[in-house]
Amino acid sequence: MTKNTNENFRKLRSEYYSNGVGAGSNRVVDSAKGALLYDVEGNEYIDFYGGIGTMNVGHCHPKVVKAIQDQAAKLTHSCFQVNAYPVALTLAERLCSLTPGTFDKKAVFFNSGAEAVENTVKIARYNTKRSGVVVFENGYHGRTLLTMTMTSKVKPFKFGFGPFAPEVYRMPFGDKVGASALNDFFIKHVNPEDIAAVVVEPVQGEGGFIAPPPDYFQELVKICRDNGILFVSDEIQSGMGRTGKMFAIEHWGVEPDLVAVGKSLAAGIPLTAVVGRAELLDAVHTGGLGGTYNGNPVACAAAHAVLDIFETEGMLEKSIALGEKIRSKFEKWQKEFTKVGEVRGIGAMSGFELVKGPDMQPDADAAQQLVNYCQDNGAIVLSCGIYGHVIRCLAPFVITDEQLEKGLSIIENGLAKICK
Ligand SMILES: Cc1ncc(COP(=O)(O)O)c(C=O)c1O
Repeated sequence: MTKNTNENFRKLRSEYYSNGVGAGSNRVVDSAKGALLYDVEGNEYIDFYGGIGTMNVGHCHPKVVKAIQDQAAKLTHSCFQVNAYPVALTLAERLCSLTPGTFDKKAVFFNSGAEAVENTVKIARYNTKRSGVVVFENGYHGRTLLTMTMTSKVKPFKFGFGPFAPEVYRMPFGDKVGASALNDFFIKHVNPEDIAAVVVEPVQGEGGFIAPPPDYFQELVKICRDNGILFVSDEIQSGMGRTGKMFAIEHWGVEPDLVAVGKSLAAGIPLTAVVGRAELLDAVHTGGLGGTYNGNPVACAAAHAVLDIFETEGMLEKSIALGEKIRSKFEKWQKEFTKVGEVRGIGAMSGFELVKGPDMQPDADAAQQLVNYCQDNGAIVLSCGIYGHVIRCLAPFVITDEQLEKGLSIIENGLAKICK
């Protein structure tokens, strides 16, 4: 029997678990509650990463736990495409009314964010009879062959895994490049009539918490509409209230044709969805979409509980309040510490750059030092960004003021140390 120490389980991990999977922290977690994590030695950590954005309603929320238990005792699996079940159908109904867009919508469930995004491409290709997909620099969409191809960062995501899927075109993104660059792109790189979909994260996650300017998506959507291209919002990380609206694209007031939803949808139970224009989802021939585990009943029950919690426990308000608190702290640090560069993102999906100095060169080593310092002092934070130099916040919205203060002071002490 392995003795409960982080070191022993690390050894077990290195002996039996693939090295191909990264290790953001060297702790081994045993349990979690709200915004707190406990390792196998009983040490407590304030959670600033929320299972990489899956725990917006907090770890082991009693309503989610109860919903999972009740559903597990009733029906754990039947394979939706053979026998459908109410909990998935009523969840589809709820998601269709939650996602942006005044048109008729339908939903379809998947198991991972990558699978959902990949299916947006399948649906777009089927409907448009075009094969091209436009994605963006710094974008992250997953690890399957197609979504890895759509992802921007080479190491670690793509290195050694080629050849990549064809017909994926990448354009620059964000505040330094307006959406009208897409017109130029269509002259230089690909004919718009060959493009099925533009797939974009409204606020880039892994790529460094980058939010484009206020008129960006209106312009981008117009270009898509003018050219018969479908507009797909990848809300896997930015959705479920993370930016203070249920879906981040709502900040721009545009209606995506398809939305990919995941991560916090079912509070950590694998469940993702594609929701969008009914006619697009219905056009695909019967049997063209699906999979053994898609829309698992236990996962759907967890998602219902999550949506109930949003309705009854003011999750969007909590997200907005969390966003205001962290941003004001990050902005304070920006003034105090020369190594803190741009403060990025929207609301509770905010982060800050670590830079070498006034030249604003990314400092990934400093980010790693800060991550390590926090871990050793009771907070788990993650870096992100194409250059690995952005510290991001994906803390559960239920984090208490006291936990937040404590966690932020750990980060602040770490900054003071690395800035000495
Ligand atoms: C924007 C975005 N899309 C897709 C994915 C892939 O999701 P998954 O890891 O569940 O496959 C992620 C994961 O981080 C993501 O952030």
